[in-house]
Amino acid sequence: MTVAEPFNDVNDVDRIMEISAYNTDVTSLIHAVADNSDAIFTWNYDKGERAKLDKLYEKAKKSQWNAQTDLDWSIEVDPYTALGVLAEGGTEYFQAPEAPTAKFGDAEWREFAYQSFAWRMSQFIHGEQGALLCTAKIVETVPWIDAKYYAATQVVDEARHVEVFTKYQSEKIGTDYPVNPHLRLLLDDIINDSRWDMTYLGMQIMVEGLALAAFGFMQQFADDPLLKKMLRYVMSDEARHVAFGVLSLQEIYQDMTAAEIRERQEFTFEAALRMRDRFLQQEVWDRMGVPVRPTVEYILNGPPETKQFQAMLFSKIVPNCKKLGLLDAGDGWLRKRFEEIEVIQFEDWVDTGEEYESLDAVAADREAAAAG
Ligand SMILES: [Fe+2]
Ligand SMILES: [Fe+2]
Repeated sequence: MTVAEPFNDVNDVDRIMEISAYNTDVTSLIHAVADNSDAIFTWNYDKGERAKLDKLYEKAKKSQWNAQTDLDWSIEVDPYTALGVLAEGGTEYFQAPEAPTAKFGDAEWREFAYQSFAWRMSQFIHGEQGALLCTAKIVETVPWIDAKYYAATQVVDEARHVEVFTKYQSEKIGTDYPVNPHLRLLLDDIINDSRWDMTYLGMQIMVEGLALAAFGFMQQFADDPLLKKMLRYVMSDEARHVAFGVLSLQEIYQDMTAAEIRERQEFTFEAALRMRDRFLQQEVWDRMGVPVRPTVEYILNGPPETKQFQAMLFSKIVPNCKKLGLLDAGDGWLRKRFEEIEVIQFEDWVDTGEEYESLDAVAADREAAAAG
């Protein structure tokens, strides 16, 4: 299913609810998606022709870590408070008499903190599996040897991320959620697309850009040392992944026509909306016995301060889109859309082309250990 109609209203609740009904086979263990790309061989084996990708590949080989042995799994976790910010209960807006959650007391907010944490971890796992499949696809479809080498290291990284989050969830949380329909629709569309650069744009720039911001946010507010270290390590990998996207797309976008760039802008905005709508957490409200549709409407109509977390998720995506020229290409179509969903304020934040050096927690810990 591709939702192709133009966006007349970014807060169209009918549309959001329609997509929400899309994931009906939640009991099936297999989900097949048609992959329309050709697998590409290259006979040009000149390593280092793309120096920045080559550097990233060498870095990736050095900064590998082991989910089973590099974290202390003996740490006891209280999943109700592990993510401190969630445990603070409902804000004023959600306690107002007209709020669908008006009747929530401390017990309900405590349960919500737990369910929301479990939901987030589940969506990370599903998103990480999406990244695993997408990077395996990039190994096949990208025509440059330096990019094939690098993408192969990312396949290993993503396997580790699925592994490490699943271990945390099953051992420390104990509740899970099926893939969110907005996320699944996005992952399906990325894999479906026959153009190899769209895999990069959808996964490396959008999904991973959002993940990097979300992990950073959670890492900052986590009270559990195991969660904190796990996220630091995952982030050091993710920063390379986003850099891989920025560095590769910069080259290919240089030669594109205005019409081709416009298609990339539209794809970017569709992806942005699906990711925003995923964080409406419809499944959590449903599990908590709160009517979903009025809650979605209530959240979308909230004042700006209730949307800060959602907006923060775009703090890596928007500067990266600017660096790639997508923000202002043509008539600045994407800039206007990002203004509508209130995320344009991040345009001059640090982009992720080089940030991976400073986020390499794995290398930093090893240097510290070697220095004694
Ligand atoms: Fe990942
Ligand atoms: Fe990644």
